[in-house]
Amino acid sequence: MIAQRPPGAAPAIQGVAESLPLEDKSVDATMGVFTMQHWDDVDRGLAELLRVTRDRVVLFTLDLDVTAEMWLCRDYLPEIVEHDRGTFPTIAHLEATLPNPRVEAISAPGDCTDGFCVALWSRPEAHLDPGVRRSSSIWHLLPDPVVEPALDRLRRDLESGDWDRRYGPLRTQASLDVGLRLVTAELGWKSLRTTTPRKWTALTPGGFGSAARPMCLPCWRSGGSRRLGPPGPTRSRRFVSCSIAIRTLCFSPSWAKRSSGR
Ligand SMILES: C[S@@+](CC[C@H](N)C(=O)[O-])C[C@H]1O[C@@H](n2cnc3c(N)ncnc32)[C@H](O)[C@@H]1O
Repeated sequence: MIAQRPPGAAPAIQGVAESLPLEDKSVDATMGVFTMQHWDDVDRGLAELLRVTRDRVVLFTLDLDVTAEMWLCRDYLPEIVEHDRGTFPTIAHLEATLPNPRVEAISAPGDCTDGFCVALWSRPEAHLDPGVRRSSSIWHLLPDPVVEPALDRLRRDLESGDWDRRYGPLRTQASLDVGLRLVTAELGWKSLRTTTPRKWTALTPGGFGSAARPMCLPCWRSGGSRRLGPPGPTRSRRFVSCSIAIRTLCFSPSWAKRSSGR
């Protein structure tokens, strides 16, 4: 995979999640796509992400309670979710472990170009293709005596039309929530917008200045940047002191604790 990367792509470094070969707080953001279920120690991997990341951690994963309702997992192979419950962290666990977590549901498009198992929710015949199954780890993890009877039943239901009688409308549906979830943790100053919405709103458009150029209350009251005069040493000094005031205010632990209600 590394050899296939285009020239000029960001450097690739090989390592394991439980011991990332990166210095503390050395990257702005980290992202993991469908990988936590393969880690030996999820909590250690998450701790590593928090150690090396300055601003944002993004994880693409599954909410198995939702995935369990997808027709393949519910009616043909409940063993898929039974297996995955032992390897995927729950969304609740991620929310409890990561700071300032945000969870977004991502619908899988019916014509998703990545053929991972649950992305094929509108193309049941694809599961009967050994080439398609080879590219998805779950088919390697479940034993043949479990997989073969389920696939035989799916084949028969497709031939008899039973599958289409039950799930036919899915074939033309644009997208479906099969449990894909984007979990984001904010570690830097942006976290204040999620933990302290009421006060931080005052620093966003409509409040004291803007997110791009926040102002402290005294600056806002005095007319903000419009009253700072032409660019020059005075203006820079005043803006710098304004920024410092905001940072001090925002990062003061007691203020943050009070504002987040914790
Ligand atoms: C489902 S693939 C996802 C690949 C990639 N994230 C993508 O979007 O194409 C899961 C990957 O996790 C890797 N993996 C397994 N255990 C790992 C670990 N402990 N640390 C880091 N990666 C691991 C596997 O080698 C595999 O490439």
